[in-house]
Amino acid sequence: MQELEKEIEELENVRSKCLNCTKCGLCKTRTNIVFSGGVPNHKMMLIGEAPGYYEDMQGEPFVGKAGQLLDKILASVGFERNKHIYICNTLKCRPPENRDPLPEEKAACREYLDAQINILKPRIILLCGRVAVNSLMDTKLGITKLRGRWFEGPNFSKMMPIFHPSYLLRNDSREKGSPKWLMWQDIKEIKRVYEQMN
Ligand code: URA
Repeated sequence: MQELEKEIEELENVRSKCLNCTKCGLCKTRTNIVFSGGVPNHKMMLIGEAPGYYEDMQGEPFVGKAGQLLDKILASVGFERNKHIYICNTLKCRPPENRDPLPEEKAACREYLDAQINILKPRIILLCGRVAVNSLMDTKLGITKLRGRWFEGPNFSKMMPIFHPSYLLRNDSREKGSPKWLMWQDIKEIKRVYEQMN
């Protein structure tokens, strides 16, 4: 527990640095930095893409429609945002009109994401969507091929790409084989591995 307290302090130091960051152009258009949500812990981290409109307004990741769906997906296997998972994004500031992060923005923000990963050293890392996958994995395969599979991540973590909830919002079917159904299989597998770690 003491170890986690030290890490929370270290994360706070990184957050403070991030609050004054002017390393890329997004500092001019952001309302708030979106550093992290959920709870710092050693078990599970989710990495999304970048803040959207509501996240920028509130300074919290995944609070818009996609975030509400993410909470439901987590809750379907008994995970709670404020108990079981640390949530962050590849970018800490919102790209205007939610466009894809630019390479220079990702490069500028990388030190904050690396610090979050290396301070907490989570045993499970969930890469939520294409942008997070491209940041952490050296692969040409798309998310559809990668999702649901475990890979070795930083610090010997188990890392799994999963669909982004925004993609699931655009694909509403729950039929067997649909993106929502596949997500359901993936979250059950994640829960299985998480439980084994107890
Ligand atoms: N989408 C993301 O990838 N991250 C957020 O924080 C919100 C929406």
